[in-house]
Amino acid sequence: MPLVNTIDMFKKAYEGGYAIGAFNVNNMEIVQGITEAAKEVNAPLILQVSSGARKYANHTYLMKLIEAAIIETDLPIAVHLDHGDSFELCKSCIDGGFTSVMIDGSHLPFEENIALTKKVVEYAHAHGVTVEGELGRLAGIEDAVNVSAEDAQFTRPEEVEEFVGRTGVDSLAIAIGTSHGAFKFSGEPKLRFDILEEIQKKLPGFPIVLHGASSVIPEYVDMVNKYGGNMPGAKGVPEDMLRKAASMAVCKINIDSDLRLAMTATIRKVFAETPGEFDPRKYLGPARSEIKKLVQHKLVNVLGCAGKA
Ligand code: G3H
Ligand code: 13P
Ligand code: ZN
Repeated sequence: MPLVNTIDMFKKAYEGGYAIGAFNVNNMEIVQGITEAAKEVNAPLILQVSSGARKYANHTYLMKLIEAAIIETDLPIAVHLDHGDSFELCKSCIDGGFTSVMIDGSHLPFEENIALTKKVVEYAHAHGVTVEGELGRLAGIEDAVNVSAEDAQFTRPEEVEEFVGRTGVDSLAIAIGTSHGAFKFSGEPKLRFDILEEIQKKLPGFPIVLHGASSVIPEYVDMVNKYGGNMPGAKGVPEDMLRKAASMAVCKINIDSDLRLAMTATIRKVFAETPGEFDPRKYLGPARSEIKKLVQHKLVNVLGCAGKA
């Protein structure tokens, strides 16, 4: 099966009340762990590449790893640019075979975000590539959803119809209280489902994207802390909230920090238990297995997309 864009997967996800997992990839073990998990449970996938990941691993290497995963799994897989910050970067990824791109103009004034996003959409659609835009800004690492000053960062439902209509985007990332990284909430986790509901009413049938959706699984945080790490207070989005979002208009759920944590916790454990180990396969192999276990859990128990490939 060739690489696919996100049109079909989002249509089925919306209608079926589940979400597609969008997992960030940086290297071979991560690609293998994610795609082997998806193969076992027959789930569609989005593998996403940030500009940092593309610089780290090289566009061609990542594309070839993903092509290998397609051959090995025969699953519908989209390769997506995560947080594209310019037309030039999006164009380069489209020209290089990506099937989906995000243009993140969320930091720009509304009209400038529209102009940039529209320009990317025109180029992408001419090449069969789907586009994710963003309105509203995710809370930062020092997240405190209850602070009123942050209200300005939540997506404003009254803007979404105009943004989608004028840009022609295929999906929209929104800010409802999630944030990137491993420290998402200082107090109780709280997401603004009321905003999601309003947006869903204004854009019936339209796929919504949730960034910053790692759960920061406590077992991995404990493992990191036990084996020499230091991540006090790390906290993520509870899985029941993600399931609720997936049953609503959210069709794509972005997960990176959980993969990082699973990998780091596992490698720390190997080194703590066998300090003399220096064969990379002996720590990257277990890290890959742990990523596979984690992703399978997400696909089956959280996103609901197992069996939907
Ligand atoms: O949203 C950001 C992703 O977690 C990618 O992070 O830019 O460090 O690769 P990165
Ligand atoms: P996390 O940091 O919660 O994994 O979010 C990842 C993300 O949104 C990538 O775009
Ligand atoms: Zn993100």
